[in-house]
Amino acid sequence: MSDNDEIVLRQWREDEIEAGLRFLTDQFLGTWHDESVGLEQLVFESERFIVMADGDDIVGTAGAYSREVTVPGGAGVPVAAVTGVGVSPTHRRRGLLRRMMTHQLHDVHDRGREPLAALWAAESVIYGRFGYGMAIRRSLVKAAVRDIPLRADLRPEPAGRFRRLDPADAVADMAAVYEQARGTRVGFLDRPGNWWKVKIWDPEWERGGASPFRVAVWSVGKRPQAYALYRVKDDETRVGPEGILRIEELIGVSAAAELAMWDFMTSLDLVRHVEMTNAPLDFPVMHAVTDARRVSIGTGDTIWVRLVDLDRALTARTYSAPVDVVLDVTDPVCPWNVGSWRLRAEAGKPATCERTDAAADLSLSVGELGAAYLGGTSLATLAAAGRVVEQRPGALREASIAFLEPNPPFCNDFF
Ligand SMILES: CC(C)(COP(=O)(O)OP(=O)(O)OC[C@H]1O[C@@H](n2cnc3c(N)ncnc32)[C@H](O)[C@@H]1OP(=O)(O)O)[C@@H](O)C(=O)NCCC(=O)NCCS
Repeated sequence: MSDNDEIVLRQWREDEIEAGLRFLTDQFLGTWHDESVGLEQLVFESERFIVMADGDDIVGTAGAYSREVTVPGGAGVPVAAVTGVGVSPTHRRRGLLRRMMTHQLHDVHDRGREPLAALWAAESVIYGRFGYGMAIRRSLVKAAVRDIPLRADLRPEPAGRFRRLDPADAVADMAAVYEQARGTRVGFLDRPGNWWKVKIWDPEWERGGASPFRVAVWSVGKRPQAYALYRVKDDETRVGPEGILRIEELIGVSAAAELAMWDFMTSLDLVRHVEMTNAPLDFPVMHAVTDARRVSIGTGDTIWVRLVDLDRALTARTYSAPVDVVLDVTDPVCPWNVGSWRLRAEAGKPATCERTDAAADLSLSVGELGAAYLGGTSLATLAAAGRVVEQRPGALREASIAFLEPNPPFCNDFF
């Protein structure tokens, strides 16, 4: 076996997309499908994808897409959307991931475009050590639709019309709704270029035995108000009906529009069960139905956030309440973040974040700031877990309230 210093970190070339994807398919216990190459070609950014090469063999991969994420206050902030991370079982636990993660974070810093990185973690033990914090959590929803009618006083009576479309014909309407929603939904990613094609990519092996994607759009006049991207699964009992509705994405320009679409979808004939594997953590529908306990909700994490340039990240968002705290920050990978920073802001106004010699109010690592950044994880909760230490009485409450958002962040883009 080669020494570590013979393993070279280099660019993942365009002509190696297939080799790299085949390698990753193995690491993720998947089954190879040729069509995956065409999908990746739509969004591949070779200048920011890397491999670890042992001679001619690829033994590690990592990459990043250039996206934007909506942060508290509504700005779309550039984010390195980290993807394609894997190391061969033959080379594991020898520091290859550490080399790639360190290289990548330094590269993002040097490029200067993105103050943040974000990823979906295959395992929650992996990325904390590189300064990522669990920032977005999801609900996994299951219910029998007949058990959860909306409360009569909340039931929308929408004007306008519902249409059923094939996904490719619905992209313009979906994008119009999504773009309107994105500005107010913390955690949403932009979908430039080919990202809508990725969203509606629908090979048979991804369907879990259900139908191809379908789309329902609700419009008033010419203006689309809400859509649902979904699958249905036929009743297999034949004594039913017991049809299953799997909602991949349900988005409206307002809360009322989303409820109207929910009501429409859950009253489809023959459908008796609804499932959503990625719904917002606070899942507002649960509070609109007659019997909330009939909605079964599990939770899990989705997006982990990493502040690459702490000061640029913390000033890109706004805060829910006035805040003036000195943060004493450690960072295991990015030395430029280490030290004391004074964060000051009025509620909803631009913030400043500057180096200071003043005494620390809170001691924490960059990972806690990543977890709290999108307003979904309370610094007070992290303090209760022993991960944030309050040095000035009152500072924890002040900072916790300032960082939190009224609704938890949500992201419906897998990358
Ligand atoms: C996860 C994975 C990329 C780790 O690669 P690796 O090269 O073995 O990681 P490293 O040797 O650089 O490990 C760095 C540190 O993380 C730890 N670590 C890495 N992966 C870990 C895991 N899955 N579970 C527990 N600890 C892990 C190592 O023990 C090491 O700890 P240390 O810094 O305290 O010594 C690799 O095991 C893999 O490809 N797994 C399958 C695919 C996957 O999960 N990819 C991640 C996608 S988000």
